[in-house]
Amino acid sequence: IALTVSQDPGNSTSSKMWGLMFEDINHSGDGGIHGQLLRNNGFQGTNPGLTAYFAVGGTELAVDESIPLSTAISNTLQVSVAAELTGQVGFGNEGYWGIPVDGSAHNHTIFIRGAYEGPMTWTLVSASSGEVFANGTFDVSSESDRFTEFTSTARSMRTSATDIEYHLTFDAAQVAGSSLWFGLPQLYAETFAGRQNGLKTFMAEAINDIGGSFLRFPGGNNLEGPNVANRWKWNETVGPLVSRPGHQGAWGYGNTDALGLHEYFEWCEDMGLDAFVGIYSGYSLDGTSITGSALDPYVDDALNELEYILGDASTPMGSWRASNGRQEPWTITWLEIGNEDDFACGTYAERFTAFYDAIKTTYPDLQLVASATGFGCLPDPFPENVWIDYHEYNIPDNYVTNFNQWDNVSRRNKYIIGEMARWGAEWSDMRGSVSEAIFMLGLERNSDLIQGAAFAPLLSLVDNQQWTPNLIPYHQSPDGLVLTSSYWTQQLFAQNAGDMTRAVTSDTEFGPVYWSAVSAGTSYMVKLANYGADPQPVTINVAGKTAANLSVLSNDDPDAANTDVTSPIVAPIVSSISGNASFTFSLPAWSVAVVRAD
Ligand code: AHR
Repeated sequence: IALTVSQDPGNSTSSKMWGLMFEDINHSGDGGIHGQLLRNNGFQGTNPGLTAYFAVGGTELAVDESIPLSTAISNTLQVSVAAELTGQVGFGNEGYWGIPVDGSAHNHTIFIRGAYEGPMTWTLVSASSGEVFANGTFDVSSESDRFTEFTSTARSMRTSATDIEYHLTFDAAQVAGSSLWFGLPQLYAETFAGRQNGLKTFMAEAINDIGGSFLRFPGGNNLEGPNVANRWKWNETVGPLVSRPGHQGAWGYGNTDALGLHEYFEWCEDMGLDAFVGIYSGYSLDGTSITGSALDPYVDDALNELEYILGDASTPMGSWRASNGRQEPWTITWLEIGNEDDFACGTYAERFTAFYDAIKTTYPDLQLVASATGFGCLPDPFPENVWIDYHEYNIPDNYVTNFNQWDNVSRRNKYIIGEMARWGAEWSDMRGSVSEAIFMLGLERNSDLIQGAAFAPLLSLVDNQQWTPNLIPYHQSPDGLVLTSSYWTQQLFAQNAGDMTRAVTSDTEFGPVYWSAVSAGTSYMVKLANYGADPQPVTINVAGKTAANLSVLSNDDPDAANTDVTSPIVAPIVSSISGNASFTFSLPAWSVAVVRAD
């Protein structure tokens, strides 16, 4: 296969082509990338009960609705100590199917009510061996009629164990025959970029290493919510954690909303990602569509959210943002109205128009994105300047067939592929990842039309997941991340993005090898994928270049997959190739590769 990359300028290519999609699904937020390690710490969501808690030393635990911590955190943990108990007693928390212990300094915070004087201890303990990996002691002087907040710090010992739990103990003799109440226990290891209420370092580093260009948040179905009452309410995700009530998420568990609007923007800033924000558009997953004048408060709410994000500190919402610790406005690169509104096709045109008119009046330069793809679901006429978010989950063979899906699509409205991934497997496998790469090559060749794409879902707690496959499945250990073949594929694309598409002439048709070329400045990047069982000889001609790097992700077995028990697919192998404007190599079976000539 001989490929010659054109020296003539081609179509300009979106420089934000390869991004990230995030919503709280599969415990990707609470218990996932968010740094707080204890589960059900605010008893949020629908009927959480004592989930994740257990008694230590013979105490009795109860969720007490009559002793709220705050208006938002209306339940606290009552720990009752029988009169005959002695020694150290208290309660434990399993974390999110374990607690990852990374060897950093851990910050512990808890609110305590009830008369107690003296030390209390929190530990991180292996459930199977009893080995202690962190031990923090703090002095308590608490009163019976109000909560007092106590903070302490202790450095942990790093471990790969996945059965670490948290214990909080105190002297039984002081409480015997009565109770103490505990509110909103919080435990954080050192966070990514040192943020307060920030992200888990090791998980954030793996995501940062992809090199994506944008972050789409907060959903996904989790934006819409299981019903209107449990939609993602931006204003309940900001401010002190004691004022965030949380909600029942769309994926069957409660969300604390400790990973809220501020934290999403901090995530963007700390990883250099553009914000692709979704706003609620009046449709929830129980099928409710809000229309007519009933929609007005939701439009107002979206305008308030935008003023909170974009307004200066002299505006009412901007000043609230400033009082929550962020003086300067943030930047929104793209704003999507809803999520997958094809599912409420009959009402989307009306709802879209209500949001579009209101937002365009105040923010005429904001790039808006519609979340329905069927033109029958969009208003007619549909504004030319609005982009469309098209989601494509598909089986591998269809991704390959769809390589040229975008070649002849009307250029009137641009598109974003806000979610994509191979469909129908538990784990990302080599066949699926190569097929994703081929679909993405088709996107890149059409990136005058396609402005960005993101794999979804990003993260998944293997012990309790609602969707597969995922880019980074994980167990609760700093060594528990599974970097899948799709992870490496996304990284290869993101780290070799260009800003100009380059035409390629070839001596053969597409299949089983597919390709696309882009440039950035004087660098040329040719991406290739081999969806076949035979290695293929390839020569790439790039005028003026004498050296290139070849990065190859491959495995002979298309069904090979990195899972929590085996990792047959290794990270892309990089080699140098030299040549006089011509680079020859063998492209392995079932592979994704990039030739980069700087
Ligand atoms: O990525 C999982 C789900 O797929 C998203 O929440 C939704 O937008 C899509 O249907």
